[in-house]
Amino acid sequence: MHNLEKTNDYTLLLKQVEALIQDEPDYIANMANVASFVYHMITDLNWTGFYLLKEDDLVLGPFNGLPACTRIRIGKGVCGTAAERKQVLNVDDVHLFEGHIACDSASESELVIPVIVHGKVIGVMDIDSPIKNRFDLALEEFMIEVVNLIVRKWA
Ligand code: SME
Repeated sequence: MHNLEKTNDYTLLLKQVEALIQDEPDYIANMANVASFVYHMITDLNWTGFYLLKEDDLVLGPFNGLPACTRIRIGKGVCGTAAERKQVLNVDDVHLFEGHIACDSASESELVIPVIVHGKVIGVMDIDSPIKNRFDLALEEFMIEVVNLIVRKWA
């Protein structure tokens, strides 16, 4: 793991994520490693992590980056909105997203992917960048595949 280098080769990175989680059934352990892997392997990110749905709150799960808000109500912020709509939200400029919750004032753009297991939202993966427009289509598709890998192991 220590020799990995940042790259834009998403096919290679996906294989590495697959290898990282293949032998471990525990989803918290896998989320922890995936949060760390993405944080360290993709350029220009300041926060990567998961929020897990408990009743009507998304509760902070495994992450990398600065300490963050521990609870986000469903329907609130980018995370809560993505979870409520069961929709990927790719926000080019967080300052233009009404209700955005600023956990880290360095964040300028944000990608949130709902984690859906057997049709139910069980949480979200949240990725923040300190630059605007960070999440192009290729990076968005890569992150959706990363979340799919976790979901497939879970289901
Ligand atoms: N910005 C998020 C809150 C979570 S932090 O970015 C880690 C939101 O608006 O839901």
